[in-house]
Amino acid sequence: MDLFEKRVRNLGPLGMYAKQADGYFMFPKLEGEIGNKMIFRGKERLIWSLNNYLGLANDLEVRKADAEGAAKYGMASPMGARMMSGQTIYHEQLERELAAFVNKESAYLLNFGYQGMISVIDSMVDRNDVIVYDSEAHACILDGMRLHMGKRFVYPHNNMENLRKGLERATRLTDQTGGGILVITEGVYGMSGDLGKIKEIVELKKEFNFRLLIDDAHGFGTMGPTGAGTDEHFGVQDGVDMYFGTFAKAMAGIGGFIASTEPIIDFLKHNMRSQIFAKSLPMPMVIGALKRLELVRTKPELRKNLWTIVEALQKGFREAGFNIGNTESPVTPVLLNGTIPEATNITVEMREKYNIFCSIVTYPVVPKGVIMLRIIPTAVHTLEDVKYTIDAFKEMNAKLLNGDYANTEFADISNL
Ligand SMILES: Cc1ncc(COP(=O)(O)O)c(C=O)c1O
Repeated sequence: MDLFEKRVRNLGPLGMYAKQADGYFMFPKLEGEIGNKMIFRGKERLIWSLNNYLGLANDLEVRKADAEGAAKYGMASPMGARMMSGQTIYHEQLERELAAFVNKESAYLLNFGYQGMISVIDSMVDRNDVIVYDSEAHACILDGMRLHMGKRFVYPHNNMENLRKGLERATRLTDQTGGGILVITEGVYGMSGDLGKIKEIVELKKEFNFRLLIDDAHGFGTMGPTGAGTDEHFGVQDGVDMYFGTFAKAMAGIGGFIASTEPIIDFLKHNMRSQIFAKSLPMPMVIGALKRLELVRTKPELRKNLWTIVEALQKGFREAGFNIGNTESPVTPVLLNGTIPEATNITVEMREKYNIFCSIVTYPVVPKGVIMLRIIPTAVHTLEDVKYTIDAFKEMNAKLLNGDYANTEFADISNL
C-alpha cells in the first residue's frame, strides 16, 4: 500500500475532526497583544487559554530585553551546538541563575521542554535501569519512555500504594541487573491542576533506593513561596534529584532547563543527545530569559496577583456548585457532563455569546461523557473578568442541565 494513501485515509483521533474543527476548536488564531483580552475571529474576547501565568509575555521590560537581544545578536547567534561552537557566557550565566533559583548545584538549558525531557530520560537510563512513573504523565515523559530499553512500571495517578509496589518490583529487578531506579512525576498536572505527591514520594526514599525527576512545567514560577516550584511548595527541594522546568509557561518564552547535582549536569552536558546534536538556544531567547528570571525573582507581586485571581476564580466556581476537581494550582478544570457535540455547542456559545475563550477537552483525554473546560488564570486577569466568567458559566450550565445543548450535532461553525 502507498504510505501517503494510508496516512490520509486515517487522519488520526484529532485529524478526523479537522474539517469541522480547524480554525475554531483546533488551530484557532488569537491575534493582538498577548493579555486577558485578545482578538478571535475579528472580535475581542476574554482569553483563559494561555499559560502566561505571571503576565510576562507582554511585560515592557521583557519586550525590551527580547528586542535588544535580537538587535544585538540576531536569531542566528550562537551558530552551532553548545559542545561544538554554541557556548556563550550568557547561556552559562542563565544556567547559574536558574540553578541558584531552584536550589540545585547546577543546571543545563534545553531547546524545548518537550524534546529536552525526552532526552534527559534517554540519557539517564539504560537497559538495566527501571523507570517508575505516574499514569497521567505528560507526553514528553511518555515519549522519553519509548526510547527506554529497560523495564518501566506505571502507577495509577498519585496512587502511593501502587508506587510502592512498583518500587518493590523495580528493586527486585535492579538487584539482578545491577541497574538503578528513576521515579518520574509532574509537580503540577497540567490538565487537572492537582499536584504530584512529591512529599510522599520523597518519604519513600527512606525505604527504597531511587532517584526522583519532576516535570514542573506548570509549577516553575507559580508554586512555592518564591516561585521556585512545587517541591519548594512542599518544602522537599532536597529530596528532588532532578528538577525540570520550561520557559514556555510562567516565563512566557521558549526553551527549558534541567537542574540537578553538578556531576549529573556534567554527565548530561556530555551525553544528552538533544543538546549535543542540535543548535544552541538562540541568544535573544537567552537574554530574554535572563530578564524574565530576574522579574520572577524580584517581583513577587506578579505571583501575588496571579494567586488573587486563582483564588477568586476557584472559590467562585466552587460556590456556584461547579466541579473543579482537586486542583491546588492555577490550572482550573471545570468538569461538566455531556457528549462531544454538546461540548462543541457549549464552546461556540461561550465564544460567540459571552466572548469567553477557553480550551475544551473531551474524550479520550478525559473519560467518555465528561467535558472539561480548562481555565488558565493569569496575573493580568481582573476580578471583573472572574465575576463575568462565573456568571456566564452559571447561565450556560443551567442550559446544559435543561438539555438545551442535547441532541445537537457537532456545532456548525461554517456560518459564524
Ligand atoms: C507537563 C509539561 N511538560 C513539558 C511540556 C513541554 O514544554 P515545552 O512547551 O517547553 O516544550 C509541557 C508543555 O505543554 C507540559 O505541560
